[in-house]
Amino acid sequence: MWKDFGFKRNLYDTHPVSGNAQGERLLVGRDAELRGLKNRISGFDTVTTIEGPNGVGKTSIVMVGGFQLYNETLHDGKDSILFLPEPFQLTTEESALDFKRSVYAAIASYFIENENTLKQRLDLQFGLKPLQAWLENPLFINGSVTIGPAGMGGGRTPNESKGFDLHGFFSLVDRLLKAAFSDKGGIVCVIDNLEILNTSQVARQRLEALRDDLFARHGMKWVVCGARGIVRSVASSQRLQGRLQEPIDVKPLSGNSIEDLVRVRVNEYKNSDDALPPVGPTSFGYAFRILHENLRDTLKFCGDFSLWLDESGQVIKDESELDQLFEIWLAEQSEAYMKSLNVPPRAWKLFDDICDQGGSISPSDHEEFGFNSPQYMRGQVQRLEQADLVVSELADSDHRRKTVTVVAKGWLLRHHRSGYEKQLN
Ligand SMILES: Nc1ncnc2c1ncn2[C@@H]1O[C@H](COP(=O)(O)OP(=O)(O)OP(=O)(O)O)[C@@H](O)[C@H]1O
Ligand SMILES: [Mg+2]
Repeated sequence: MWKDFGFKRNLYDTHPVSGNAQGERLLVGRDAELRGLKNRISGFDTVTTIEGPNGVGKTSIVMVGGFQLYNETLHDGKDSILFLPEPFQLTTEESALDFKRSVYAAIASYFIENENTLKQRLDLQFGLKPLQAWLENPLFINGSVTIGPAGMGGGRTPNESKGFDLHGFFSLVDRLLKAAFSDKGGIVCVIDNLEILNTSQVARQRLEALRDDLFARHGMKWVVCGARGIVRSVASSQRLQGRLQEPIDVKPLSGNSIEDLVRVRVNEYKNSDDALPPVGPTSFGYAFRILHENLRDTLKFCGDFSLWLDESGQVIKDESELDQLFEIWLAEQSEAYMKSLNVPPRAWKLFDDICDQGGSISPSDHEEFGFNSPQYMRGQVQRLEQADLVVSELADSDHRRKTVTVVAKGWLLRHHRSGYEKQLN
């Protein structure tokens, strides 16, 4: 399909931009954020944090920032900064020990896979064979490992009799990091999507547990990213203050950057000079504003439109004709959604109020929205959730957190309900 449009691949891929030279070309409008990120990682030994709405471009910034630091410190020997390209996630299911094990395994694999290149910039001092032996050991692979008395207490697996001591592996990796890096150097490790832990209380507990362990390791440089206020909430914890930096606040791309995003992708992926993108810069900007400046949602809708266009068999050679068609298609999408919904008037009123507040609210503000109890408001929020217009997280002990948020379908219907006028400056 993309070949027929004149492109090598999906122009509207929703994955984060990668930490490589192409990712660096694809990332637009983030010079200030990149500078801020790199300054924090290279100049401080505290945890760098990033906060911003869903789909705004946080992961992409971190990927490209890590890649740039890697290149900028190529000749810095022990002050080198390396970058683990796969971010980690903290989940409620995984134990602290399993998380630590996956971090150490990822670092060991990274060194093994890149041994030859790394030897040119770092003094590795010892061979990586023993690490490889650990990674290939079936007991290690299937998780039947234990922690000896010197390790982290309480982390024993049920399978103890068959297990062996994981502590040996941890100290091997620690020795490697000590040999490789000075106090300034290290490998950037990212914890992404902190908000999947749902409540700031859980996130705080998990990060506090890392404070004196992984966050304090020689040679590891941590970055924590999250959405919907969770990082900011956690960073204010008494135990984490001073160890976690104030979050870098990532705002939606502004000005011409949005149009540039499409132009850069077109340039990168076109097969011929007359390739015409199904959604060009103008329509992309239009959708971006309707969808409350969420890049991921905008890209998703553009992909859907491209599919529709291809399957409808229409032959269009002109950008403005495409722009018109896109506008009509979006309007038809929202009309079809609207017809399929059964939302009571009180819930619609709440929905409009949430949109007026910028798209997210805190459940503790029920009075402001005309409800005399949080429970009554909760019922209306549930109606909106069932209609896929908002998402809502568990009640959070941090009442300031805005945990009810309008999602893409909601913004599309908001546009529909306001007569296709609002938000389009
Ligand atoms: N500055 C940018 N230039 C070009 N493309 C971008 C930029 N920022 C983000 N994108 C694209 O937008 C989409 C969303 O970006 P990304 O995944 O980095 O956002 P996020 O904030 O991490 O989202 P989430 O909260 O869902 O994790 C991706 O497809 C990414 O390639
Ligand atoms: Mg992300």
